[in-house]
Order: sequence, then C-alpha cells, then structure tokens
Amino acid sequence: MPVRITDAIAATKAARGLYLKSYGCQMNVYDGLRIAELLQPQGFGLVEDPAEAELVVLNTCHIREKADDKVFSDIGRIRKASPNAIIAVGGCTGQALGAKVMQQAPAVKIVFGPQTTHRLPALLAKVEEGRAQGFEVRAVDTDFPELEKFDHLPTPGAYGPSAFVTIQEGCDKFCTYCVVPYTRGAEICRPAADILHEIRQLVTKGVKEVVLLGQNVNAYNHAGITLAALCAQVATIPEIARIRFTTSHPNNTTADLIEAFATNPKLMPYFHLPVQAGSNRTLERMNRNHTVESYLATIAAVRQVRPDVAISGDFIVGFPGETEDDFAETLKVAAYVGYFGAYSFAYSPRPGTPAAELPDHIDEVTKKTRLAALQAVLESTSHTYMQQFVGQTVEVLLEERGNQPGQLRGRSAHNVPVNVNMAEAEAVALMGQLVTVKVTEAAPRSLIGRLHTSAR
Ligand code: 5AD
Ligand code: SF4
Repeated sequence: MPVRITDAIAATKAARGLYLKSYGCQMNVYDGLRIAELLQPQGFGLVEDPAEAELVVLNTCHIREKADDKVFSDIGRIRKASPNAIIAVGGCTGQALGAKVMQQAPAVKIVFGPQTTHRLPALLAKVEEGRAQGFEVRAVDTDFPELEKFDHLPTPGAYGPSAFVTIQEGCDKFCTYCVVPYTRGAEICRPAADILHEIRQLVTKGVKEVVLLGQNVNAYNHAGITLAALCAQVATIPEIARIRFTTSHPNNTTADLIEAFATNPKLMPYFHLPVQAGSNRTLERMNRNHTVESYLATIAAVRQVRPDVAISGDFIVGFPGETEDDFAETLKVAAYVGYFGAYSFAYSPRPGTPAAELPDHIDEVTKKTRLAALQAVLESTSHTYMQQFVGQTVEVLLEERGNQPGQLRGRSAHNVPVNVNMAEAEAVALMGQLVTVKVTEAAPRSLIGRLHTSAR
C-alpha cells in the first residue's frame, strides 16, 4: 500500500525539519504518522531530504535480515548527508538490536521501540538538553508498556480518503521463523470505544475508508467484542463507506467473521490470509498450528458467502528442511487458491528464533530458484484475476494523483489499484471521492479505466 503522509504535516513549512522513514509493514506506517503528528507541536514538519533535517527518525523493520541491513546502510548515508541531525532509530530493529545499533552507529542518539513511540519527544528533550550543555547524551527506551502509546495519540491531521487504524498489536503465536512476538510483544487489543473515537475524528478529515490493522487482526477481542462485531460498529458511522482489515491468521477466522463478509455491506471483499507454506510437514515445523486442509476450508467458507472475494497471502520459501516435494505442494496451493496478490519471501534466519537453530538450512541459490518459481505462479494467478474486470464497471475511491494530468489513482472494492482517466477539471473536483469507473485495460499490477459516473 502507498505510504500516505498527512497533507497537513507535509504542507507545513515547519521551523524544524523532520526526516522520517518507515520501513516494512502497515503498522509501521501508522506508527510513523503518529510520530510525525506527535512532533508537530515542537515545530517539526516533514522534509523529503535528510540534508534539511534537524531530526531523523528511522522507524525500522526487523522481519528479515535485509531489512536490518538497510537500516544500517541508511544510517551511514544519512550521517553523510546531514552530519548535525539527531538520528533516532525506532521500530522493531530498535527494539531487537538497540544495543547493537548504539554500539555500531555512534551517530544514533536515540533508540526506541514500537511500544514507546509516544516517549520520543521526552527522549529528544534529553538529548537536546545535553547538547545545550555541551554533552553528547544518548537515550534508549525499549520498554513494553501495554497500550500506553495509544493513550498519547495526537489528534489526527488532514488525511487522504483512506486511513490505517491499529486495533491490535503483538503476537502470541510464535511461528518458529518470526521475530514479531519478541519485537512487538504479546497480543493486545485496543478498546472498541477508543477505536471508534479515532475513526470519528478521521471522518471529520475526509476519511471514507479505514483499514483496521493488527499482527493478528482477526484475533481481535476486547471485552467480548470480536472483529466482526467491531466492523459492525464501524459500519454505523455514516461517512465510512469501506472497511478492510489486515493481517489475519487462519486459526482466528471465526464463523462470525466469515458471516460478516455476507452481512456487512461496508466490509470490502478482500481478505489477506497468509498460508506461508503448502506442505503440512513444513507448517508443523513452522509451528503454524494449522494444516493446508484447514486453510483451504477457511478460504472455501469465505468464498461460499462472498464468491468474488479477492484473496491475498504471504509465503515463505526455503524454510529449513523444505524438500522439493514440500515446495511442489506450495506451488500447488498457490495455483489452487488463485491469489489476486501475494507477498513471497525467501526464508531469512533470525537470531533468537527457534527456526534459526534448525540443522537443515537451505542454500541461498535454491531459495532464489524456488522464490522465482513461486512468483511466476503468483503472477499468473494475479493476471487471471485482473482480466475478469476488463469491460466491467467498478467503484473506485480516488486516493492520489496518477502519472499524467487528468489521471487519478485509487482502489476498487477488491483492493485492486486502478488508474482512472478523466478531464483535468474532474480530477481536481473528484480527488477523495468514490466514483464508478469503466475498466478498459488490465496492466500487470493495476487496472486502467475511465470515469463512468461520479458516484457518491
Ligand atoms: N523470513 C522470511 N519471511 C518472513 N516473514 C516473517 N518472518 C520471516 C522470515 N524469518 C514473512 C511472513 C509474514 C510476513 C510479514 O513476513 O510471510 O507473514
Ligand atoms: Fe509472526 Fe506467526 Fe505472529 Fe504472524 S502469526 S506475526 S508470522 S509469529
């Protein structure tokens, strides 16, 4: 999904430059926006060039080794571009490797974690006080204060028409390859009243679609309110036209949630359900606690109530001990489900996780070969999926400018990116609106169409 920076923050020519980069998942995008809003009262406004920054915040991801490497190389690059800026490393790398970051990167003055974003202004104040007195102070805060950061959310700035809202964080599943339970902590859910309050504030800024976020979003349950019940409550807000949620675990896909795809007209026909691997042997070694059969049964149940639902997923190839036969089963599942889109990754051993200790690691060349084979299947299922829309009319929420004048970009109900051509005057008038679009063409990763009628 595109990273949306609030117009207000981006447009303000602030006294103090803030260069903020969010890596990885959508929850980091959400946290990044909150960080920018939190620093606004201190005079910070976003800049696109680190050379103009007084403060650099790297909101990092630790999920794969490459993500960590990128952080360390970015620190070096930014140091050169902006020698005097205070560099702060937050997010999951900050949480997991705070001490290493401090040791290996003297330029970094602040380290914080995903649960201590709200304490950044205080950490910054410490460093600045030190500087004022001629000392180089360094500040670290990687606590896990439950839900505390949500109590410090600033009032949202101006938004595009679609906004992320974190409703659940952390994970108790402990898949053997994954760092999330260690970096984001245990599963916690925000109270429904707080979530609804945040969404009501967002609609005053023009938001029409909310994407409810959580590491295991479908495990959401606060005081007996399930995700399906929460979606029903969100749907009562008249200005909200669309609801999505991501990312889900197969085992938390309850009957009431499946039913919601049929009964909640604002819940969009899009379901991101990672399977990770197509072989039960691998799933067991991954500690996924589900089988291929139970996963496929869940997909079938959702399709039964909502036949057009767009399914996407995540895959890991080259998990330790994965044989050619295991991998062939993954290809089979990918083709069978007919994903509209999927993220696929080569297994990356993460220090401290059980899978990193397994004996039979797969060599990098084999991982790359398997990844390419899986991606070829996924591209083909995605192509087939996209083709069905050519000649049809779809409803699109117009979110941003396209590459040409008279072109806006948005997403269909099925979460397919659509480039919509229209007269320039219409483009100016219709930004942020829901419109009907006649699809004329399917490009590899998006649809192209022209404005049919301005809808709501
Ligand atoms: N190596 C490769 N991919 C991973 N993911 C999580 N941990 C790893 C790892 N160690 C993938 C999973 C998950 C997605 C967010 O990242 O597919 O669903
Ligand atoms: Fe990681 Fe598994 Fe939890 Fe997803 S369910 S965040 S893959 S441990």
